[in-house]
Amino acid sequence: MTKEERYQALLPQAEALCEGETDMIAKMANISALLHREMGFWWTGFYRVVPHPQPLSFQERGAVRAVSPSLERRGGQGGEAELVLGPFQGPVACTRIAYGRGVCGTAWKERRTIVVPDVEQFPGHIACSSESRSEIVVPVFEGEEVIAVLDIDSRDLATFDDTDRLWLEKIAACLPG
Ligand code: SME
Repeated sequence: MTKEERYQALLPQAEALCEGETDMIAKMANISALLHREMGFWWTGFYRVVPHPQPLSFQERGAVRAVSPSLERRGGQGGEAELVLGPFQGPVACTRIAYGRGVCGTAWKERRTIVVPDVEQFPGHIACSSESRSEIVVPVFEGEEVIAVLDIDSRDLATFDDTDRLWLEKIAACLPG
């Protein structure tokens, strides 16, 4: 089976797993298991956008406002939240990623899928595992808001391309609701 055919077979399964389920963690857990097993990825999982545990101080709020007024307007999205490790399959990974940091934080900030053929060439890449060589990160939208990112790592260079982007974006679109 080609990669395209494998994704084609997988999409209805992903849709069925999400249909009628409202718990986002449960859906993310099943989607990461499905993708990991069927596609044979090295690391497959989600980072969720989660508010910082501590409210920002008055001074910190001022700093956020100064750096990014648009983030401040969007209720602190990015300024007062970070990515926190969610359901995943594969080796242990870093638990928190700041807005705009690494491939995941950049996909969140830029609100678009990022394909990285060689992680060593991506400035600021966060190496959770020294074995990861290429990566794709797909934002998960709920309406206009990025609520999570789907992150997939490979031990080979240049594993991901537009086919992965297309199908993984369809799969990520099953999650909200
Ligand atoms: N490489 C990611 C960090 C997450 S791990 O790959 C699981 C990044 O640069 O954001």
